[in-house]
Amino acid sequence: MSVSPAARVAELRELIAEHNRAYYVRDAPVIPDADYDAMVRELRSLEAAHPELAEVGSVSETVGAAPSTTFSPVVHAERMLSLDNVFDVEELRAWAGRVARGLERDEAEIDFAVEPKIDGLALAITYLDGDFLQAATRGDGTVGEDVSLNVATIGSVPARIGARGRVEVRGEVYLSLKDFEALNEAQRARREREFANPRNAAAGSLRQKDPAVSASRPLSFLAYQLLGDERSFLTYHETIDQLGEWGFTVAAERAVLRGTEAMLERSSWFEGHRHDLGYQIDGAVVKLDDLAQRRALGATSRAPRWAVARKFAPEERSTHLLSIEVSIGRTGRATPYAVLEPVLVAGSTVSLATLHNEDQVALKDVRPGDLVIVRKAGDVIPEVVARIPEEGVERAAPWVFPRECPDCAGELVRRAGESDTYCVNPRCPAQLMQQVIHFASRGALDIEVLGEQRVAQLLHEGLIGDVADLYTLEPEQLAPLEGFGEVSARALVGAIENSKSQPLSRLLVGLGIRHVGPVAARALAGTFQTYDALASAERERLEAVEGVGPVIAESLYVFVREPEVLERMRRLSEAGLALAEPVTRSAGTALAGRAVVVTGALTGYSREQAEAAVLGAGGTSPSAVSAKTYCVVVGEAPGASKLARARELGVPLVPGEEFENLLQSGTWRSTLT
Ligand code: IVH
Repeated sequence: MSVSPAARVAELRELIAEHNRAYYVRDAPVIPDADYDAMVRELRSLEAAHPELAEVGSVSETVGAAPSTTFSPVVHAERMLSLDNVFDVEELRAWAGRVARGLERDEAEIDFAVEPKIDGLALAITYLDGDFLQAATRGDGTVGEDVSLNVATIGSVPARIGARGRVEVRGEVYLSLKDFEALNEAQRARREREFANPRNAAAGSLRQKDPAVSASRPLSFLAYQLLGDERSFLTYHETIDQLGEWGFTVAAERAVLRGTEAMLERSSWFEGHRHDLGYQIDGAVVKLDDLAQRRALGATSRAPRWAVARKFAPEERSTHLLSIEVSIGRTGRATPYAVLEPVLVAGSTVSLATLHNEDQVALKDVRPGDLVIVRKAGDVIPEVVARIPEEGVERAAPWVFPRECPDCAGELVRRAGESDTYCVNPRCPAQLMQQVIHFASRGALDIEVLGEQRVAQLLHEGLIGDVADLYTLEPEQLAPLEGFGEVSARALVGAIENSKSQPLSRLLVGLGIRHVGPVAARALAGTFQTYDALASAERERLEAVEGVGPVIAESLYVFVREPEVLERMRRLSEAGLALAEPVTRSAGTALAGRAVVVTGALTGYSREQAEAAVLGAGGTSPSAVSAKTYCVVVGEAPGASKLARARELGVPLVPGEEFENLLQSGTWRSTLT
């Protein structure tokens, strides 16, 4: 089935926005960076090929995601831009060529600074008359989060520097590989969740609510930009030297090279030495050294033209495949994975790697004993890429997908036309374990102290057999268990108790309904307000919710009627769970069930804040205009395609100044034509 470019663009925008939230807000990426980059590239090329689909503020040109709500917002004095990426030497050469033409200079005369691209998170630190004033994360580039208290605890951030006036130092917060390993070891010892990679560990550590916890984490800061005092400098390397003199850590491997060839060579040097630096890098950054040249080139809305990131290919290593096993997920999906001879890939040891599904195993034709290539793209999910044929080595027989679930010995079923195989036993303990873990996870009921090992322990002890059983646990039952004490038993029961007030949308996520992700869950909860209303809704009413199609509607319709689910919900309700979506405003139902699309910038609201305000008034805020859209709010520099689509469908265009009014009353006084 071929998808129209408009539909694909809408889909990519939705996906990228969701992954942005996963990466920047929840510090929990779910796909490898390389896949994310590929989506952004596909979106940009579609937008370039179909200018009518391009829109101001598209995720293809914005950076990061809006800040979460734990920390106060900080408006950056100067937007925090991202970097454009190139993926090989040729693309980097082409970039240098464009720069030279833009400057009308000979490439051989240009000075390039080349430095490591640290895989951490960007931070802006402000000093006033030399005193540390504030530190903020990047957020969406315009508004970040105030993390001053946490940053003040980082040893490599000086409390005082010898500068006058207002000076901003930008750089990367990260964890060295050594500190990352130590932190994960401590997490293991405390039976807490390990971090997937140093970047997530740094992000999670920086965004702790309690600065004391941040202080206990070995964060480092590497400075790479000085703002506010550049007048006294002609070149970038002088600013970096100054930062070093003020006591900041700056990249020891930085170098300034004249001419494209020397620059290319240095960027490749970083690729060859990516493991020797003591911290994780995912590329090299090339910047113009001459500050006047930088000003001459300027920036796009997303990134400066005077700098570029050369991203290194995801790392690959070879190792032996020891065996192929199957793991059961919360929906019963049986995923084959390879057990490997441990191998160091991209800074951490890999001993398991996914093989995705039955067809992939057959396609790659990997068998126990084979030599295989393992890749850890973006360091998220290691995968087996291919087999390396070895001459004269006898191979094992082709692997056959098991017929029985490894956990409950129930039947494994692969339906016609599907690539996945499922354990269909609803009482399978492996499924149950994953369901409980998912239920307690951050995007769902957020029961922080209930990690994987504790779930396994509770199941093993027979204390829970369903998520509803969590709400029956008593501290007295837990305290005698291994690894628990009175304090941690009470803490767990308290955290479970607190989760009762989570909004319906979180519960819907937690229930793990097939096809119902956070976006659909919010839209459904916003529309129906209570679980009872949602569960008794007919298919047509579910489908009428913006962002909910027939597939999601059907899945939900069937789910809420399953006997186990009816019983579970009865028990959750009895336990006192909210089962309702709170409305944050007093007139919070003004937009109940209505889809409001916002395009362009609204005064006083970031994109995400505007979206949150619509949700708070009971509405939904999809990114695309459709016939179901209630109205389109038009801010500064709106997207041309959205306006055109709204006009085409006769959807009212409401001026941005009416937004408050709309939130309060659900109506407007004037429209645009
Ligand atoms: S310069 C306007 N230099 O990579 C230029 N960024 O993918 C601002 N990063 O947002 C960035 N190492 O968080 C620069 N040596 C380096 C870097 C670096 C890592 C990060 C930074 C940036 C992101 C872009």
